[in-house]
Amino acid sequence: MASIITNASDSCRNIVIFDTTLRDGEQSPGASMNLQEKLEVAKALVELGVDVIEAGFPIASPGDFEAVREIAKIVKGSSVCGLARCVPADIDRAWEALREAEDPRIHVFLATSAIHREFKLRMTEDEIVARAVEGVKRAKGYCSNVEFSPEDACRTEIDFLCRVVEATIAAGATTVNIPDTVGYTTPPEMTERIKTLLNRVPNIDKAVISVHCHNDLGMAVANSLSAVAAGAGQIECAINGLGERAGNCALEEVVMALRTRRDVFKADTRVVSQRLAPTSRLVSKVTGLKVPRNKAIVGQNAFAHESGVHQDGVLKERTTYEIMSAESVGFAKNDLVLGKHSGRAALAARIKSLGYELEREQLDAAFEAFKRLADLKKDVFDADIIAIVDRQLSPNASSDAAGDWEVVSYSLGCASGSESTFEVVLSQGGVEKKATGTQENGPVAAMFAAVQQIVGLPLALSDFKIEAVSGGSDAQGEVVVFLNDDASKSTVRGQATSTDVFEATLRALVSAVNRVQASRVGEK
Ligand code: KIV
Ligand code: ZN
Repeated sequence: MASIITNASDSCRNIVIFDTTLRDGEQSPGASMNLQEKLEVAKALVELGVDVIEAGFPIASPGDFEAVREIAKIVKGSSVCGLARCVPADIDRAWEALREAEDPRIHVFLATSAIHREFKLRMTEDEIVARAVEGVKRAKGYCSNVEFSPEDACRTEIDFLCRVVEATIAAGATTVNIPDTVGYTTPPEMTERIKTLLNRVPNIDKAVISVHCHNDLGMAVANSLSAVAAGAGQIECAINGLGERAGNCALEEVVMALRTRRDVFKADTRVVSQRLAPTSRLVSKVTGLKVPRNKAIVGQNAFAHESGVHQDGVLKERTTYEIMSAESVGFAKNDLVLGKHSGRAALAARIKSLGYELEREQLDAAFEAFKRLADLKKDVFDADIIAIVDRQLSPNASSDAAGDWEVVSYSLGCASGSESTFEVVLSQGGVEKKATGTQENGPVAAMFAAVQQIVGLPLALSDFKIEAVSGGSDAQGEVVVFLNDDASKSTVRGQATSTDVFEATLRALVSAVNRVQASRVGEK
């Protein structure tokens, strides 16, 4: 059970980690996840040891409601939170979704800054205070664990912010969150704001002070750390820094900053740091949003040493150029490359060291896939193994769920200066359909035309990415396709990996098509 802590300072305070990957993170353009993927992420967050999982905004859509309810049912050991505006219908809906949780939290919010009061809400200060208090009281009628957020708090006049915070704590809020909604504040300003709240709000000791920093100026992590240094007791953050616009404070960065610099912050979290890289990979996989190679903590290059001087130093003494070890954040220790002569035990050991637990049948299937891949390419790298394991762990996330379209075969013809043709056979429920696309714009355009003829849906491509999973000309290509779905007004993603990039593209496209179809019948 997540423990509520006080803001009181002792030698090493525990900071509550409130993860909002599934709520604010899912608001990143293109990052929508289906129910199965959200459940997978929620389980990973529990293993990671986050204290609070903000699972969604239940009134926003039936899909959000369902996701919060299902997550609330399965999560043990972390609090599950649902977001609500200070509106009775929102709060009632949030509680309906959360009621089966072991440790439910309702998070109510209302904007407080002058700009929001005047232009968005058209409400006076008195009306804002009254609405915020009503919201907290209504939530409190359902559960004891209530968080209030004065949206755009960092641009709110400090006197008014103190008044709102005092009133909402008096109404029963156990956490008061100070969002930098537009990512505008700076570290010294954040320190000042938190200190002022702690000094001026008379009942501040009755609640945990939290921060929720957006990254518009690239200062979300620094602002969150400044808040902690000033006395805040909770940080809201998201895996890989996902979130609206430029995102939220990156969980992996803020957690490792606190752990690595406990001497400075005198604070730590209960996060299991070895789960950071696997959780980052999972979130990247289910959202299709790639982690930049040079990203702190979880980027592929975060522990790579290129220059000879650095390599020499690290070989002599790792700490010459490393302030954390790769293993401490969950990267595999042994980077020996596997190949076609490697056995099942070696593969199993590598999968384990990469942070995965597979059932026997999943391991058998992964070994089969590994052998097939090792026949096609000389060296099988960790990134290849991760791609194989990801396919075993969530086949529906990539393609081929029952009832969906499946790829049977394809052939293509192309040459410079002439039209490309792409012939494809897809099957649905065992019934095969064949079509040929012909396009001047190359084989991928011809592929889209052929698939469109079969599935009968308009395929509006919004983004298309191919990336080599590892080095070498025989590397697997990972393809992510994003389609604009006019009906749901959303971006739908498909993803697949193969040594043949045309096959990967076709499978990724078909996976996206399956998601578009499923969202129309409300399945995913
Ligand atoms: O950025 C923000 O202000 C939010 C609130 C709902 C906490 O996401
Ligand atoms: Zn936010």
